[in-house]
Formats: sequence, structure tokens, C-alpha cells
Amino acid sequence: MKFFVDTAEIDAIAELNDTGMVDGVTTNPSLIKKSGRDILEVTKEICDLVSGPVSAEVVALEADAMITEGRKLAEIAENIAVKLPLTWDGLKACKVLSGEGKMVNVTLCFSANQALLAAKAGASFISPFIGRLDDINLDGMDLIEDIRTIYDNYGFETEILAASIRSVNHVQECARIGADVMTAPPEVIKKLATHPLTDKGLETFMKDAASAGIKIV
Ligand code: E4P
Repeated sequence: MKFFVDTAEIDAIAELNDTGMVDGVTTNPSLIKKSGRDILEVTKEICDLVSGPVSAEVVALEADAMITEGRKLAEIAENIAVKLPLTWDGLKACKVLSGEGKMVNVTLCFSANQALLAAKAGASFISPFIGRLDDINLDGMDLIEDIRTIYDNYGFETEILAASIRSVNHVQECARIGADVMTAPPEVIKKLATHPLTDKGLETFMKDAASAGIKIV
């Protein structure tokens, strides 16, 4: 499973990138706002840092305007994935931009039928939002499972990009089901490395190393 990092914070991306954990980046207007940066500038910096797909989201609502914005975003770098909302206009824009050979990430997906439409419109990625479904007492993971089945039934090549990941359990479940990609905030990705038994075991090893006077260099 590929790991995308869901942030527009350059330092956080750079730190994770140094460990080989970043196969791509996703942003959205809320994350750009949080960064306090200009969308074109910060997206360019991210693209210079990361070689995998970098999703940058349009802010227009009408298909023609989305296409214009998508083309402008795609000019930033070759690894831009234009992020479009899963609306009828978004699907129209997806068909046009994917037809031009641009990567498209269709976002705000909350049903398997929406995912089916995005695949038919030529999306490179579909972003089902797990956490936001869990927030309203539905099971986001059921959606990932349904999309996996449907895409496999028909051989769609659109990659399932599990989004709105809030916990390490979400990551593990996505990997078990077979999501192609997951995107998570840096804190969640870093938390994947932690386990209380690792901490406990290391504490003992360090104590024993000190009392035995073990020195390596
Ligand atoms: C990713 O593409 C989405 O923008 C993001 O995962 C949304 O996450 P949230 O529901 O935690 O805001």
C-alpha cells in the first residue's frame, strides 16, 4: 500500500520523506489555509520535494471553471494530480482533464456508486473519506471494501486512495482490505511506528547496556 501524507506543511513532509514513507502528498483547501501559504507556491515546493503524485484541489464549482483551474494547477509540475469534488460537474471536468493525460484525484467520495462514476470518468484516484463516515456513525471501512470489490469485478484501474484516516487502526484495515493508497496526517503515520512493548523492551535493553558497560563506537 502506498503512503501519501495529508498535509501542506513542508517540514513535516520533508521529515517523513527522509524515511522513505512518502509516496505522494494530498492537500485540500482547508490544509492550504492551515499552512498560511499561497496555494501555487506551496504546491510547487511540495512537488520539488516529492516525486510521487501531489494532489492540489480546485476551488471552482462549475465544470468549465474547474477545467481551467485544473490546467493551471497541472502546469506547476508533472506530478500534480488535479483534485476534483465528486459532483456532476467534477465528473465532467474529470473526463476532460484525464483525457488530456492529467492525473485526477476525485475527492469527497462517500458511496460506492460515486466511486463507480469516478472510475468511468477516468479518475486516476478515488478518495473515499473514512473518518467523516465514522463521524456520522457509518462504517467508513465498509465503503473501502465495497469499492475494492466493485473495481476488481470490472478491472477498473482507478486507485483507491483511502482518505480521512484518523487512526493507526484505519491504516491497518485499509491494508488488509487492499486499498491501493492511504493518505494520513503526519502524526498518524509516525504513530504507526510506536508500540508500548517496543518502548518497554528498549528501556530494559538500555538499562542492561549501561550496567554491562556495552560500548560500540
Ligand atoms: C484527503 O484527500 C482529504 O483531504 C483528507 O484526508 C480529509 O481528512 P479529514 O476528514 O480528516 O479532514
